[in-house]
Amino acid sequence: MQIPRKLDKYIIGALVVLTVLFIAGIVFFFIRTDSLQNDIADLRNYSKELTNTLASTTASLNEQLAYTHTSLSNAISEERNNVGTLQNQLGGFQNQFGNLSGTVTTLQKLSQTDPELLKKYSKVYFLNENYVPSRLSEIPLTYQYSDRKQLLLQSDVLPRLEDMVNAASSTGVKLYVFSAYRSFDEQKALKGIYTVNYGAGTANSFSADQGYSEHQLGTAVDMITPGLGGQLDGFDNTNAYTWMLANAYKYGFVISYPKNNGYYVFEPWHWRFVGVKLATDLHNQGKNFYDMDQRDIDKYLANIFD
Ligand code: DAL
Ligand code: ZN
Repeated sequence: MQIPRKLDKYIIGALVVLTVLFIAGIVFFFIRTDSLQNDIADLRNYSKELTNTLASTTASLNEQLAYTHTSLSNAISEERNNVGTLQNQLGGFQNQFGNLSGTVTTLQKLSQTDPELLKKYSKVYFLNENYVPSRLSEIPLTYQYSDRKQLLLQSDVLPRLEDMVNAASSTGVKLYVFSAYRSFDEQKALKGIYTVNYGAGTANSFSADQGYSEHQLGTAVDMITPGLGGQLDGFDNTNAYTWMLANAYKYGFVISYPKNNGYYVFEPWHWRFVGVKLATDLHNQGKNFYDMDQRDIDKYLANIFD
């Protein structure tokens, strides 16, 4: 088929235009692709920058967080220390206050307690002829061995004596009071009789001079038990004595003149009230009242009737 020449020109023209457009398209495509790649690269860089910024910001925040945490921890532990110090100070004040009120109580008790009650008599201290216990009470006759004479005892000691005798009685042990308070004059008269009967040397071995007897304090008793014919001698061979050795301290009584004491002959019947605390400490330490320093004994005075 013959294509008209004129048409031929148009076709060629159109092909040329299409080819140019095609090439321009390709060029544009490459240019555009290149631009997009540049954009992508830019975005990648930007993304890297952002990642770096984020990482450094996170590190900085972590650092600040750690710093804040440390600061807060330090502040908290400092406050805890302050609270601890305040609590210690408060404890110290409370202790001081406790000690102070304890001291006041002790002083109050001491001011109301006869200062003679724990002194060592028996040739060491002296009670003058005017010393009479502040309060004396009659020992009920049921506790006395004989009703020939009303015996007296320091009033605060009497209930302790009764408790002791009742406790012994509840175990079948019979204890009675043979002698209790003796005035200065009674002791003088008694010592006079012993001196006449036995001579001064022998009398001095078992009887105190007036003013030196624990009986004048009103806190000492001579105990007896049936079966001895009304005599004190032999008391150490009785179950009453055995019971007292094991139990008298619980009621505040101690033996004043045990075997081999440095003052008088062995007097198993003679017991003196010194308070439960001192009697218990002496019992537990296996010591006798007269073995202890007077200064140490005096510490027990405020609590003698506790
Ligand atoms: N029998 C004691 C020592 C006194 O007379 O007090
Ligand atoms: Zn006695």
